[in-house]
Amino acid sequence: MTSPCMDRAADTIACAERVVVLTGAGVSKESGIPTFRDAQTGLWAKYNPEELATPQGFLKDPQLVWQWYDYRRRLVMEALPNPGHLAIYHLEKVLPVVVVTQNVDGLHKRAGSSDIIELHGSILRFFCFDEHHSADNVECNLQAPPLCACGSLIRPAVVWFNETLPPDALQRASELVMQADVVLVIGTSGLVQPAASLPWTAKRHGAKVIEVNPDRTPISDLSDIFLAGPAGVLLPQLVQLVEDRVGKPTS
Ligand code: OAD
Repeated sequence: MTSPCMDRAADTIACAERVVVLTGAGVSKESGIPTFRDAQTGLWAKYNPEELATPQGFLKDPQLVWQWYDYRRRLVMEALPNPGHLAIYHLEKVLPVVVVTQNVDGLHKRAGSSDIIELHGSILRFFCFDEHHSADNVECNLQAPPLCACGSLIRPAVVWFNETLPPDALQRASELVMQADVVLVIGTSGLVQPAASLPWTAKRHGAKVIEVNPDRTPISDLSDIFLAGPAGVLLPQLVQLVEDRVGKPTS
């Protein structure tokens, strides 16, 4: 027996021609990746992420910031996509879907999603601090950032506080939500700009907004449908209902 909200959400998605799925850290929580505003656990509990995730923090203590990201990268590499990520992949098989994520963990790609916009970059990629030369195959467990051939410190290819998002990524995400019929907002506190404005932009351009989150957020009041619960539980149910309406994928 599904809830009326779930049925309404499935009806709405099943009629859509263009779906954007906007995700935050909550979609990776059930893969064991701490959300950004959960209390930092263990050895990192005494540090404030908003001090570590900044260019100033990196220059002030490159080793500390490097070790924090190395710890998070190892968490990510050991994690697996959860049923929420996989449900989004299955949705793509029955409807045109673009994933716009604030997450840097690469789990949507590992789940099989094919059209992903990483608004905040990736913890699995690197470039050098001064010239943005890309750096591949950076080994784990280094105690300090390696140096680029140009002599600059190598850093994770993630967007830090006080930094701008990749312009192409933000531009495309904005255009997509303006054209979308439905925007699924999953697992984000809706606090960090400019990503947090995307659901508002979608709404102004006529999209239906469906939010999936155990807790209400600033986005909940603008949402047409609010589904309260964890993504890993609700998304598989929702996508199954959509498949029942539009037919199982052929491949
Ligand atoms: P937050 O940690 O701010 O919010 C996580 C959201 O996920 C909260 O609203 C939780 O209620 C929700 N949540 C928790 N468990 C969930 C579950 N199982 N299923 C669904 N939702 C769940 O993370 P973000 O909103 O992603 O930016 O944070 C946005 C940005 O703030 C991050 O990308 C990062 C940070 O500054 C950068 O790194 C640039």
